[in-house]
Amino acid sequence: MKVNRVYQYSDEFTGKLASYDKRKKPSWIQFESDIKIQFLRADHEGVQYWYRRYFQDYFLILNATPNDYASYYDEIAHSYDTMVPQNVQLADFIIEKMHTLIAKNAHILELSAGTGILSKKIVPEWSNLTITDISPKCLEIAKTETHLSDENIIVADVLKFNTEKKFDAIVELMGLDYFSDDEIEKIANNVLSKIHKNGVLVFVDRHHYSSFEKRLKVLEKGFFDMETPTGKFPYAYMIAIKE
Ligand SMILES: C[S@@+](CC[C@H](N)C(=O)[O-])C[C@H]1O[C@@H](n2cnc3c(N)ncnc32)[C@H](O)[C@@H]1O
Repeated sequence: MKVNRVYQYSDEFTGKLASYDKRKKPSWIQFESDIKIQFLRADHEGVQYWYRRYFQDYFLILNATPNDYASYYDEIAHSYDTMVPQNVQLADFIIEKMHTLIAKNAHILELSAGTGILSKKIVPEWSNLTITDISPKCLEIAKTETHLSDENIIVADVLKFNTEKKFDAIVELMGLDYFSDDEIEKIANNVLSKIHKNGVLVFVDRHHYSSFEKRLKVLEKGFFDMETPTGKFPYAYMIAIKE
């Protein structure tokens, strides 16, 4: 192990509270500052809450619940695509892998589809796509981008995701990074029950997930680096099949 970054405590800072979630326990705040703040503490009605920077000036409450994520992604939905320009290339990477493995008539499930950065690249080639996400506002944008019908758009917490449908493939881009190992175990169990034998999974995320790998035959996995607005980061990918 190597300690390679620290965040120093400070009571001295300048910045402006631009907006915040108006609920009793605010899920997010937008705080503009010239210095690169990673964590901040805010007092709301006499209670102190800690927040961590996620995108640009937006901070998400620590130990966020699915409701907090829904509120946060609803708030940033309209600017989300500009915050993650690298996701277009990551989506291209997934599409390239899908070409070699997934038949054009396959019924595909995309987890945590967000505003549809990947979905809109899938639909012209694989018309049988179902997308799911916890943020209704993100999915509204995805619907406009993809022209998918309502029955193929499911607003759901992936931890509780349920559908009668069965799929031939599951794809996922940057949507599982938030979950604990126990939650990933639950998600893997649940979503893998929704794909047929020989169903294919293609993931690009920040980590590899052993909960998925131990239940599947991994065909290919690895890491690659990608430039983002906040620096170069490694991304993990995995292609696997349900035997
Ligand atoms: C980093 S974004 C990725 C979105 C999209 N896949 C992309 O690459 O642009 C993460 C997505 O996960 C969704 N999300 C977070 N927690 C979730 C949960 N518990 N269930 C379903 N979706 C969730 C968010 O709403 C958000 O759209």
